[in-house]
Amino acid sequence: MAGKVITVAQQKGGAGKTTIAANLAVGMTRAGHRVALLDTDPQGSLGRWFMTRRADGLDDMEFSTASAWGVGYECEKLKKSCDFVILDTPPKVDADLRPALKISDLVLVPVASSQVDVWAVESVLDLVSREKRDALVVLNRFKAGTRVGHDVTAAVRGMDVPLAETTLGNRVVYAETLGLGRGVQEHAKSAATDEMERLVAEILGRIS
Ligand SMILES: Nc1ncnc2c1ncn2[C@@H]1O[C@H](COP(=O)(O)OP(=O)(O)OP(=O)(O)O)[C@@H](O)[C@H]1O
Ligand SMILES: [Mg+2]
Repeated sequence: MAGKVITVAQQKGGAGKTTIAANLAVGMTRAGHRVALLDTDPQGSLGRWFMTRRADGLDDMEFSTASAWGVGYECEKLKKSCDFVILDTPPKVDADLRPALKISDLVLVPVASSQVDVWAVESVLDLVSREKRDALVVLNRFKAGTRVGHDVTAAVRGMDVPLAETTLGNRVVYAETLGLGRGVQEHAKSAATDEMERLVAEILGRIS
């Protein structure tokens, strides 16, 4: 069997790429899948998250790093033993992102609740469509019932890209759990655990 590859990409820094990669990995693992994380971001945040998790005795997923150009080779290895390989990428969209997109079954594009994030999304969607890949936009730090929340949703709906039904709220538990090497699902039950479970189910429904 060969695992499926999910890449998280967005040019805008801080949109929630690493947060979504980590929580997706936890959610898929909890759903019984074998998951590998592949960090192509030199910042190494996902690696720090993984090492913090491991130091705490949690040894339930694979982890590796790769340069932009080594990603295909590394991914092929991980796909042999895992159901899903989740790739985290740096906050830039250029030729370096291409090798990751080429091997992706799904590209998740987090858009935080601001017009700046919406502007930044166009370059990644352009590259995804040139590589003929499937993308899914996920609204992160979403502020329901606000003007900016409404405007961001309308702007993404106006683009030719699927939008995840599940939105992720702006919740401090995302930052807290990330620093502890955990996912929100491993914290007390809350609106965050519910929305993350829904997002994981939605993504599994698209890609399985
Ligand atoms: N839904 C959320 N609610 C609250 N805080 C969040 C949420 N999503 C992400 N954050 C916080 O925002 C910050 C940036 O998130 P994250 O590191 O996941 O973004 P990124 O896109 O990976 O950034 P970079 O482009 O630098 O790699 C982190 O401190 C994270 O904990
Ligand atoms: Mg990151």
